[in-house]
Amino acid sequence: MLDKIQNILKEIETIEVKTKDQLENYRLRYTSRKGLLNELFEDFKTVANDQKRAVGQELNKLKTLAEQRLKDFTEAIENSESDAAGSATDLTLPQAPNFTGTVHPLTLVRQRVLEIFGRMGFSHEEGPEIETDWYNFTALNFAEHHPARDMQDTFFVEKKEVQKDDVLLRTHTSNVQIRLMERKKPPIRSIMIGRVYRNEAISARAHCQFHQIEGLYVDKNVSFKDLKDTLLHFAKEMYGKDVTVRLRPSYFPFTEPSAEIDVSCFICGGKGCNMCKGSGWVEIAGSGMVDPNVLASCGIDPEEYTGFAFGMGVERIANLKYRVKDLRMFFENDVRFLRQFEGA
Ligand code: DAH
Repeated sequence: MLDKIQNILKEIETIEVKTKDQLENYRLRYTSRKGLLNELFEDFKTVANDQKRAVGQELNKLKTLAEQRLKDFTEAIENSESDAAGSATDLTLPQAPNFTGTVHPLTLVRQRVLEIFGRMGFSHEEGPEIETDWYNFTALNFAEHHPARDMQDTFFVEKKEVQKDDVLLRTHTSNVQIRLMERKKPPIRSIMIGRVYRNEAISARAHCQFHQIEGLYVDKNVSFKDLKDTLLHFAKEMYGKDVTVRLRPSYFPFTEPSAEIDVSCFICGGKGCNMCKGSGWVEIAGSGMVDPNVLASCGIDPEEYTGFAFGMGVERIANLKYRVKDLRMFFENDVRFLRQFEGA
Protein backbone atom coordinates (compact mmCIF):
# COMPACT_ATOMS: atom_id res chain seq x y z
CA MET A 1 0.00 0.00 0.00
CA LEU A 2 2.89 2.31 0.76
CA ASP A 3 4.12 1.83 -2.82
CA LYS A 4 0.74 2.71 -4.19
CA ILE A 5 0.69 5.90 -2.16
CA GLN A 6 4.19 6.85 -3.34
CA ASN A 7 3.24 6.31 -6.98
CA ILE A 8 0.17 8.52 -6.76
CA LEU A 9 2.18 11.13 -4.87
CA LYS A 10 4.70 11.29 -7.73
CA GLU A 11 1.89 11.46 -10.26
CA ILE A 12 0.32 14.42 -8.50
CA GLU A 13 3.64 16.18 -8.09
CA THR A 14 4.42 16.09 -11.79
CA ILE A 15 0.98 16.42 -13.33
CA GLU A 16 0.18 19.53 -15.36
CA VAL A 17 -3.30 21.00 -15.34
CA LYS A 18 -3.90 23.88 -17.75
CA THR A 19 -7.49 23.73 -18.89
CA LYS A 20 -10.87 23.39 -17.25
CA ASP A 21 -11.24 19.89 -18.69
CA GLN A 22 -7.91 18.81 -17.27
CA LEU A 23 -8.93 20.27 -13.93
CA GLU A 24 -12.15 18.29 -13.91
CA ASN A 25 -10.24 15.11 -14.82
CA TYR A 26 -7.82 15.76 -11.99
CA ARG A 27 -10.66 16.20 -9.55
CA LEU A 28 -12.42 13.04 -10.71
CA ARG A 29 -9.25 10.95 -10.61
CA TYR A 30 -7.91 12.07 -7.23
CA THR A 31 -10.13 14.07 -4.91
CA SER A 32 -13.74 13.29 -5.86
CA ARG A 33 -15.86 10.91 -3.85
CA LYS A 34 -15.05 8.05 -6.19
CA GLY A 35 -11.41 9.15 -6.67
CA LEU A 36 -8.17 7.42 -5.76
CA LEU A 37 -7.85 9.14 -2.39
CA ASN A 38 -11.11 7.80 -1.09
CA GLU A 39 -10.26 4.40 -2.48
CA LEU A 40 -7.01 4.48 -0.47
CA PHE A 41 -8.84 5.51 2.69
CA GLU A 42 -11.15 2.51 2.17
CA ASP A 43 -8.10 0.24 1.77
CA PHE A 44 -6.58 1.78 4.89
CA LYS A 45 -9.23 0.05 7.00
CA THR A 46 -7.65 -3.30 6.08
CA VAL A 47 -4.07 -2.30 6.92
CA ALA A 48 -2.52 -4.27 9.74
CA ASN A 49 -2.51 -2.48 13.08
CA ASP A 50 1.27 -2.27 13.42
CA GLN A 51 1.51 -0.50 10.03
CA LYS A 52 -1.42 1.87 10.49
CA ARG A 53 0.74 4.67 11.87
CA ALA A 54 3.28 4.74 9.02
CA VAL A 55 0.70 4.29 6.25
CA GLY A 56 -1.65 6.82 7.86
CA GLN A 57 1.05 9.50 7.86
CA GLU A 58 1.83 8.94 4.17
CA LEU A 59 -1.84 8.91 3.28
CA ASN A 60 -2.43 12.21 5.02
CA LYS A 61 0.56 13.71 3.23
CA LEU A 62 -0.91 12.63 -0.08
CA LYS A 63 -4.32 14.03 0.79
CA THR A 64 -2.86 17.43 1.71
CA LEU A 65 -0.83 17.62 -1.48
CA ALA A 66 -3.73 16.56 -3.69
CA GLU A 67 -6.05 19.20 -2.20
CA GLN A 68 -3.42 21.94 -2.30
CA ARG A 69 -2.69 21.29 -5.96
CA LEU A 70 -6.40 21.29 -6.79
CA LYS A 71 -6.68 24.71 -5.18
CA ASP A 72 -3.60 26.07 -7.01
CA PHE A 73 -4.77 24.77 -10.40
CA THR A 74 -8.24 26.24 -9.90
CA GLU A 75 -6.83 29.67 -9.03
CA ALA A 76 -4.37 29.67 -11.91
CA ILE A 77 -7.11 28.82 -14.41
CA GLU A 78 -9.45 31.51 -13.02
CA ASN A 79 -6.71 34.15 -13.26
CA SER A 80 -5.77 33.30 -16.78
CA GLU A 81 -9.47 33.50 -17.70
CA SER A 82 -9.83 37.06 -16.38
CA ASP A 83 -6.65 38.08 -18.26
CA ALA A 84 -8.18 36.74 -21.38
CA ALA A 85 -11.31 38.81 -20.78
CA GLY A 86 -9.14 41.93 -20.35
CA SER A 87 -7.44 41.43 -23.65
CA ALA A 88 -10.80 41.00 -25.32
CA THR A 89 -11.44 44.79 -25.01
CA ASP A 90 -13.14 46.16 -28.08
CA LEU A 91 -10.43 48.26 -29.69
CA THR A 92 -12.84 49.73 -32.21
CA LEU A 93 -14.79 51.66 -29.52
CA PRO A 94 -14.29 55.45 -29.63
CA GLN A 95 -11.90 56.79 -26.99
CA ALA A 96 -13.47 57.69 -23.64
CA PRO A 97 -13.49 61.51 -23.17
CA ASN A 98 -10.37 62.61 -21.33
CA PHE A 99 -11.40 65.43 -18.94
CA THR A 100 -8.38 67.44 -17.93
CA GLY A 101 -9.93 69.87 -15.43
CA THR A 102 -10.78 73.57 -15.72
CA VAL A 103 -9.71 76.82 -14.13
CA HIS A 104 -12.21 77.95 -11.47
CA PRO A 105 -14.26 80.98 -12.64
CA LEU A 106 -13.05 83.05 -9.67
CA THR A 107 -9.46 82.26 -10.66
CA LEU A 108 -10.23 83.27 -14.25
CA VAL A 109 -11.47 86.65 -13.01
CA ARG A 110 -8.49 87.05 -10.70
CA GLN A 111 -6.03 86.32 -13.52
CA ARG A 112 -7.77 88.75 -15.88
CA VAL A 113 -7.91 91.55 -13.29
CA LEU A 114 -4.23 91.15 -12.41
CA GLU A 115 -3.37 91.21 -16.10
CA ILE A 116 -5.34 94.41 -16.80
CA PHE A 117 -3.97 96.30 -13.81
CA GLY A 118 -0.53 94.80 -14.28
CA ARG A 119 -0.32 96.50 -17.66
CA MET A 120 -1.17 99.80 -15.92
CA GLY A 121 1.80 99.30 -13.60
CA PHE A 122 -0.02 97.94 -10.54
CA SER A 123 1.87 95.36 -8.48
CA HIS A 124 0.13 92.44 -6.75
CA GLU A 125 0.07 92.27 -2.94
CA GLU A 126 -1.45 89.90 -0.39
CA GLY A 127 -2.38 90.21 3.27
CA PRO A 128 -3.69 88.06 6.14
CA GLU A 129 -7.28 86.85 6.43
CA ILE A 130 -7.06 86.72 10.24
CA GLU A 131 -6.56 90.32 11.20
CA THR A 132 -6.67 92.75 14.09
CA ASP A 133 -9.28 95.46 14.45
CA TRP A 134 -6.55 98.03 13.82
CA TYR A 135 -5.94 96.96 10.21
CA ASN A 136 -9.53 96.07 9.41
CA PHE A 137 -11.23 99.11 11.03
CA THR A 138 -9.37 101.58 13.23
CA ALA A 139 -6.54 102.56 10.87
CA LEU A 140 -9.13 102.83 8.10
CA ASN A 141 -10.75 105.69 10.01
CA PHE A 142 -13.62 103.70 11.53
CA ALA A 143 -14.02 105.57 14.85
CA GLU A 144 -14.52 103.48 17.98
CA HIS A 145 -18.19 102.46 18.25
CA HIS A 146 -18.85 104.25 14.97
CA PRO A 147 -22.01 102.83 13.37
CA ALA A 148 -20.07 102.27 10.15
CA ARG A 149 -18.55 99.23 11.82
CA ASP A 150 -21.98 97.66 11.70
CA MET A 151 -22.02 97.96 7.92
CA GLN A 152 -19.93 94.81 7.91
CA ASP A 153 -21.07 91.93 10.12
CA THR A 154 -17.84 90.73 11.62
CA PHE A 155 -16.71 87.27 12.75
CA PHE A 156 -14.62 87.86 15.86
CA VAL A 157 -11.87 85.42 16.78
CA GLU A 158 -10.87 87.01 20.07
CA LYS A 159 -12.09 90.08 21.95
CA LYS A 160 -9.32 92.04 23.71
CA GLU A 161 -9.36 94.79 26.33
CA VAL A 162 -8.63 97.46 23.77
CA GLN A 163 -10.87 97.46 20.72
CA LYS A 164 -8.08 97.96 18.19
CA ASP A 165 -6.43 94.71 19.38
CA ASP A 166 -9.51 92.52 18.76
CA VAL A 167 -8.74 89.61 16.47
CA LEU A 168 -11.22 88.99 13.64
CA LEU A 169 -11.68 87.57 10.16
CA ARG A 170 -11.18 90.43 7.76
CA THR A 171 -14.42 91.82 6.38
CA HIS A 172 -12.75 93.41 3.36
CA THR A 173 -9.37 93.52 1.63
CA SER A 174 -8.85 97.15 2.69
CA ASN A 175 -6.69 95.83 5.55
CA VAL A 176 -3.92 95.20 3.01
CA GLN A 177 -3.92 98.91 2.08
CA ILE A 178 -2.84 99.74 5.62
CA ARG A 179 -0.22 96.99 5.81
CA LEU A 180 1.20 98.15 2.51
CA MET A 181 1.34 101.85 3.40
CA GLU A 182 2.96 101.04 6.73
CA ARG A 183 5.64 99.03 4.95
CA LYS A 184 6.27 101.06 1.81
CA LYS A 185 6.62 104.73 1.10
CA PRO A 186 4.89 106.25 -1.97
CA PRO A 187 4.70 105.86 -4.88
CA ILE A 188 2.44 102.86 -4.22
CA ARG A 189 0.40 101.32 -7.01
CA SER A 190 -0.99 97.92 -6.05
CA ILE A 191 -3.81 95.45 -6.50
CA MET A 192 -4.75 93.22 -3.58
CA ILE A 193 -6.98 90.18 -4.05
CA GLY A 194 -8.23 87.78 -1.44
CA ARG A 195 -10.95 86.12 0.55
CA VAL A 196 -13.06 88.04 3.04
CA TYR A 197 -15.65 86.95 5.60
CA ARG A 198 -18.94 88.35 6.86
CA ASN A 199 -21.48 86.96 9.26
CA GLU A 200 -24.27 86.56 6.71
CA ALA A 201 -26.86 83.84 6.33
CA ILE A 202 -25.91 81.79 3.27
CA SER A 203 -28.32 82.14 0.35
CA ALA A 204 -28.23 82.45 -3.43
CA ARG A 205 -27.38 86.14 -3.04
CA ALA A 206 -25.17 86.26 0.06
CA HIS A 207 -22.38 84.15 1.50
CA CYS A 208 -20.25 84.23 4.63
CA GLN A 209 -17.13 84.13 2.48
CA PHE A 210 -16.38 85.87 -0.80
CA HIS A 211 -13.49 87.57 -2.58
CA GLN A 212 -12.54 91.18 -3.10
CA ILE A 213 -10.17 93.14 -5.25
CA GLU A 214 -8.66 96.21 -3.69
CA GLY A 215 -6.76 98.89 -5.59
CA LEU A 216 -4.52 101.57 -4.14
CA TYR A 217 -2.56 104.34 -5.79
CA VAL A 218 -0.69 106.84 -3.60
CA ASP A 219 1.73 109.40 -4.95
CA LYS A 220 2.17 113.17 -5.34
CA ASN A 221 -0.71 114.82 -7.19
CA VAL A 222 -2.96 111.77 -7.59
CA SER A 223 -6.37 113.16 -8.48
CA PHE A 224 -9.99 112.10 -8.67
CA LYS A 225 -9.65 112.17 -12.45
CA ASP A 226 -6.92 109.52 -12.24
CA LEU A 227 -9.37 107.33 -10.31
CA LYS A 228 -12.07 107.74 -12.92
CA ASP A 229 -9.71 107.17 -15.88
CA THR A 230 -8.20 104.06 -14.30
CA LEU A 231 -11.56 102.47 -13.61
CA LEU A 232 -12.91 103.46 -17.03
CA HIS A 233 -9.96 101.72 -18.67
CA PHE A 234 -10.48 98.66 -16.46
CA ALA A 235 -14.21 98.54 -17.30
CA LYS A 236 -13.52 98.69 -21.05
CA GLU A 237 -10.93 95.92 -20.83
CA MET A 238 -13.12 93.74 -18.63
CA TYR A 239 -16.59 94.31 -20.04
CA GLY A 240 -16.04 95.60 -23.57
CA LYS A 241 -14.85 98.68 -25.45
CA ASP A 242 -18.31 100.26 -25.67
CA VAL A 243 -18.99 100.60 -21.94
CA THR A 244 -18.80 103.87 -20.02
CA VAL A 245 -18.69 104.49 -16.29
CA ARG A 246 -20.51 106.85 -13.99
CA LEU A 247 -19.67 107.87 -10.45
CA ARG A 248 -22.34 108.23 -7.77
CA PRO A 249 -21.60 110.00 -4.47
CA SER A 250 -21.27 107.53 -1.60
CA TYR A 251 -19.74 107.12 1.84
CA PHE A 252 -16.83 105.04 3.16
CA PRO A 253 -14.93 105.98 6.35
CA PHE A 254 -11.57 105.52 4.60
CA THR A 255 -12.20 107.69 1.53
CA GLU A 256 -13.20 111.33 1.10
CA PRO A 257 -14.87 112.03 -1.22
CA SER A 258 -16.27 108.56 -1.94
CA ALA A 259 -18.02 107.27 -5.02
CA GLU A 260 -19.82 104.18 -6.19
CA ILE A 261 -18.74 103.16 -9.70
CA ASP A 262 -21.38 102.00 -12.17
CA VAL A 263 -20.71 100.64 -15.63
CA SER A 264 -23.19 101.05 -18.48
CA CYS A 265 -25.02 97.76 -18.96
CA PHE A 266 -23.02 95.76 -21.47
CA ILE A 267 -25.93 93.40 -22.13
CA CYS A 268 -28.50 95.91 -23.34
CA GLY A 269 -26.14 98.80 -24.06
CA GLY A 270 -27.93 100.97 -21.50
CA LYS A 271 -31.48 100.51 -22.76
CA GLY A 272 -32.59 98.55 -19.71
CA CYS A 273 -32.77 94.76 -19.23
CA ASN A 274 -32.97 92.06 -16.56
CA MET A 275 -29.29 92.31 -15.70
CA CYS A 276 -29.39 96.06 -14.95
CA LYS A 277 -32.96 95.83 -13.61
CA GLY A 278 -34.08 98.27 -16.26
CA SER A 279 -31.75 101.06 -15.15
CA GLY A 280 -29.10 100.73 -17.87
CA TRP A 281 -26.31 100.68 -15.22
CA VAL A 282 -24.68 98.01 -13.06
CA GLU A 283 -22.67 98.74 -9.95
CA ILE A 284 -19.11 97.37 -10.02
CA ALA A 285 -17.05 99.07 -7.30
CA GLY A 286 -16.75 101.35 -4.28
CA SER A 287 -14.02 103.95 -4.46
CA GLY A 288 -12.72 107.32 -3.39
CA MET A 289 -9.75 109.49 -2.50
CA VAL A 290 -7.83 108.02 0.44
CA ASP A 291 -8.89 109.94 3.56
CA PRO A 292 -6.01 112.08 4.95
CA ASN A 293 -6.55 110.39 8.35
CA VAL A 294 -5.77 107.00 6.79
CA LEU A 295 -2.55 108.27 5.20
CA ALA A 296 -1.55 109.82 8.52
CA SER A 297 -2.20 106.64 10.53
CA CYS A 298 0.25 104.85 8.21
CA GLY A 299 2.92 107.52 8.60
CA ILE A 300 2.37 109.11 5.18
CA ASP A 301 2.18 112.91 5.11
CA PRO A 302 -1.27 113.87 3.71
CA GLU A 303 0.06 117.35 2.88
CA GLU A 304 2.56 115.82 0.47
CA TYR A 305 0.72 112.82 -0.91
CA THR A 306 -2.75 111.98 -2.13
CA GLY A 307 -4.19 108.71 -3.34
CA PHE A 308 -7.21 106.86 -4.60
CA ALA A 309 -8.55 103.46 -3.63
CA PHE A 310 -11.27 101.15 -4.84
CA GLY A 311 -12.82 97.83 -3.90
CA MET A 312 -14.71 95.30 -6.02
CA GLY A 313 -16.28 91.88 -5.50
CA VAL A 314 -14.72 89.04 -7.49
CA GLU A 315 -17.94 86.99 -7.43
CA ARG A 316 -19.80 90.05 -8.66
CA ILE A 317 -17.52 90.33 -11.70
CA ALA A 318 -17.80 86.58 -12.35
CA ASN A 319 -21.60 86.90 -12.11
CA LEU A 320 -21.69 89.69 -14.62
CA LYS A 321 -19.33 87.88 -17.01
CA TYR A 322 -20.67 84.34 -16.72
CA ARG A 323 -24.27 84.89 -15.41
CA VAL A 324 -23.99 82.65 -12.40
CA LYS A 325 -27.35 83.06 -10.66
CA ASP A 326 -26.51 81.37 -7.37
CA LEU A 327 -23.47 82.58 -5.41
CA ARG A 328 -23.17 79.24 -3.60
CA MET A 329 -22.09 77.54 -6.82
CA PHE A 330 -18.69 79.22 -6.57
CA PHE A 331 -17.94 77.33 -3.39
CA GLU A 332 -19.57 73.94 -3.90
CA ASN A 333 -17.11 72.78 -6.57
CA ASP A 334 -19.70 70.71 -8.36
CA VAL A 335 -17.84 69.46 -11.45
CA ARG A 336 -20.97 69.88 -13.59
CA PHE A 337 -20.70 73.61 -12.87
CA LEU A 338 -16.91 73.83 -13.13
CA ARG A 339 -16.75 71.95 -16.44
CA GLN A 340 -18.74 74.72 -18.08
CA PHE A 341 -15.65 76.93 -17.86
CA GLU A 342 -13.55 74.67 -20.05
CA GLY A 343 -11.68 76.89 -22.47
CA ALA A 344 -13.13 80.08 -20.91
N1 DAH B 1 -13.98 97.95 1.66
C1 DAH B 1 -15.23 98.29 1.00
C2 DAH B 1 -16.23 97.20 1.27
O1 DAH B 1 -15.87 96.12 1.57
C3 DAH B 1 -15.00 98.44 -0.47
C4 DAH B 1 -14.23 99.65 -0.79
C5 DAH B 1 -14.87 100.83 -1.01
C6 DAH B 1 -12.86 99.60 -0.85
C7 DAH B 1 -14.16 101.99 -1.31
C8 DAH B 1 -12.12 100.75 -1.13
C9 DAH B 1 -12.79 101.92 -1.37
O2 DAH B 1 -10.79 100.75 -1.19
O3 DAH B 1 -12.07 103.04 -1.65
O4 DAH B 1 -17.39 97.43 1.16
